[in-house]
Amino acid sequence: MKFLITAGPTRERVDPVRFISNRSSGKMGYALAEMAYKFGHEVCLITGPVNLKTPDGIEMVYVESAEDMYNAVRDNIEDCDCLIMAAAVADWKPEECNPSKLKKDSFDGVLKLKRTKDILLEIKEFKKDRVFVGFAAETDDLIKNAINKLETKGLDFIVANDVTQPGAGFGVDTNIVTIFDSQGGVTELPRINKADVAKKIIEKIVEFRT
Ligand code: PMT
Repeated sequence: MKFLITAGPTRERVDPVRFISNRSSGKMGYALAEMAYKFGHEVCLITGPVNLKTPDGIEMVYVESAEDMYNAVRDNIEDCDCLIMAAAVADWKPEECNPSKLKKDSFDGVLKLKRTKDILLEIKEFKKDRVFVGFAAETDDLIKNAINKLETKGLDFIVANDVTQPGAGFGVDTNIVTIFDSQGGVTELPRINKADVAKKIIEKIVEFRT
């Protein structure tokens, strides 16, 4: 299969010096890309700015903003069999990027934000018989929020993680996930390495496709 995987944070520029972002290290998305490649699949990895070793044998697309990431997904979606959106894509960005560095004595401290594109929603029309896998980064009501995303974004799987749990979510080498599928299946995994989480997810996708 041809996997299109996104990883890492996006950066939304405030001015030429500053940006808003999040704590994603890219480890979950990179683990998925490396595991899919290890299983013999073709992989295109779209990554925000991270500090991780570039995996061998994987086509890399480097992006910065949510808009860049949307464009990269749009450019590659029709060439893949499966999309896994593991990236922490910004939901908001500054209404405008100030052309020069904001000055302490002139900036009033108010940063007006506007919504970014919801990539999974924007590319829903390209799903067809492709497998779409989303992630849900939650701090409360994990099951309700995850299932809501599974349904509203028209996904086959959603991988839910409570990012407030120690050893789960951002930056750490492990994760604690529950995988919900569109047939009502629920697979709750204990705290395991992100590589082992990735293995489970890839296995489920391949099984779903056969
Ligand atoms: O990178 P790590 O440090 O290893 O951390 C892993 C992780 C916590 C980032 C990962 O496990 C994770 O939860 N990724 C999803 C983070 C996120 O943006 O979740 P969300 O619930 O806000 O978004 C839901 C889904 O919609 C995600 O698949 C996301 O990629 C996608 N999305 C989000 C925003 C947006 N504008 N467009 C999107 O398509």
